[in-house]
Amino acid sequence: MIQSERPGRHDEIETFFRERFTTDNPLITEAVKRMLAAGGKRVRPRITLLAAQTHDVQSERHMQLAAYMELIHVATLIHDDVVDNAQTRRGVNATAIDYGNRISVLAGDYLFAWIFKNVTHLYAPPIPNILSATLAEICDGEVLQLRSLGDLNVSLQSYIEIVERKTASLFAASAQCGAIAGGAPPRVVQALRAFGLAYGIAFQMRDDLLDVTADAAALGKPVGNDLAERKMTIPLILALRSGTGEFRSMVERLYAGRNPDVAAVIAGIRQSGAIEETRATIAEYSRRAEDAIGGLENTGAKAELQRLAGELLEEAS
Ligand code: IPE
Ligand code: IPE
Ligand code: MG
Ligand code: MG
Repeated sequence: MIQSERPGRHDEIETFFRERFTTDNPLITEAVKRMLAAGGKRVRPRITLLAAQTHDVQSERHMQLAAYMELIHVATLIHDDVVDNAQTRRGVNATAIDYGNRISVLAGDYLFAWIFKNVTHLYAPPIPNILSATLAEICDGEVLQLRSLGDLNVSLQSYIEIVERKTASLFAASAQCGAIAGGAPPRVVQALRAFGLAYGIAFQMRDDLLDVTADAAALGKPVGNDLAERKMTIPLILALRSGTGEFRSMVERLYAGRNPDVAAVIAGIRQSGAIEETRATIAEYSRRAEDAIGGLENTGAKAELQRLAGELLEEAS
């Protein structure tokens, strides 16, 4: 997605970030506000509001909960860029570049604590419980991913398990908590959670695909960074499955630091047909997301959620 389009930005949420968001620590507030002002697609808060709206048309009341979902995401990004050693984020310097790793780690920690302090104060269980369990899952996913770095034998199944934790869990929680806040019955809450989980898997697959197909300026973050970091992403896993022995040795050399030719590996991924296969897998999860809420009453919010799922596929094409 093109960074400058900023689709899905919700005026109320933007106003909250601009005018009401502050913490007791000025340096941390400044670092977080800078990341919020830099852009971002705001998909998680949008999903929260839409999930609430499937049952409660006055979804504006849930704007603050939606904003907390984005803030959890921002805190994970600040940490993720330290872990991944990334230089840019949302088209600007990653927080660690401008503030250093030490402040970035502390800023992320502070933000998580600040969010949880507010959420436990403002929302009844199970919302705070879901959010804390989600944060544990995200960290778990990031650790599992770190442990699988450079392991060419990672299966598609293990990849999906990692992605469920590191990315899809927050989408699932965004949809689930939105539905709970909107007063939806358990069946609807579960359907929306399932939507978020499938959507999140497709979303990360698309992010992985863009790492090998996109243009860095449009993406707002570097291209080929996953390969440079020796990550096992879906296009690479599929390319290793169907590619030649020669391709495998090339990846082995890259991941052993003996041949830093990322461009050649990207060309190999293209030749193997893995790009098309990744798109087909994104399509499968995008359909699963649409189907998960297929039984819900037909509302504008349901249609919009299904449209968002379909859009992932278009963007991956
Ligand atoms: C980036 O998320 C991290 C992933 C889970 C792939 P987004 O693609 O939603 O990032 P922003 O919020 O638009 O910057
Ligand atoms: C997403 O993973 C980060 C989290 C879910 C915490 P990536 O490392 O793939 O995300 P980008 O590519 O840096 O945005
Ligand atoms: Mg990263
Ligand atoms: Mg990525």
